[in-house]
Amino acid sequence: MFTKMQDGTPDDWAIIGAAHREHFYKTPSHLMDMLRSLKDITGGFACDQLQHSLMTATLARRDDATDEEVAIALLHDVGKSVNIPNHGPIAAELMRPYVSDAAYQVIYNHQHFQGKFYYTFMGENPNMRDDFLKESWYDLAVKLVDRWDAPAFDPEFEVDSLESFEPLLRKIFSQPGRAL
Ligand SMILES: [Fe+2]
Repeated sequence: MFTKMQDGTPDDWAIIGAAHREHFYKTPSHLMDMLRSLKDITGGFACDQLQHSLMTATLARRDDATDEEVAIALLHDVGKSVNIPNHGPIAAELMRPYVSDAAYQVIYNHQHFQGKFYYTFMGENPNMRDDFLKESWYDLAVKLVDRWDAPAFDPEFEVDSLESFEPLLRKIFSQPGRAL
């Protein structure tokens, strides 16, 4: 095996490719760990971010959402485990190889859709979602934010367990469907 990439051979890259594919199957476990870490973040809300994520996903599940919709509902704020200001794009990029472009765009931009409910308190335009009115994924973003995400800050709500969502994460995030 090379010690400088400049010296790589086809055999080296066959070995590296096989080893990388083994890592694909670890993604659901990493996502579960990131979700668990949201328990430590409350950020001034009435409940912690794990409860918020589980409530968002539970509402989606009980609203006859598709598997992908439930998955992105669960993971929409997982980027907060890394950093809060850029959490939408972080979560979107984590999911990108595994989900539709519509799902990617919804998660990337979801904060601007939530802005309807609080940007005015921050001196920003609360109608920023209108910039996306012509996008094919606009209705999905409205559904995610208005029906599942925005109402999901109740610490007393009986959420489905994180473990109950693990089979879904394993189904969607074990094999990238899009080019890496
Ligand atoms: Fe959220």
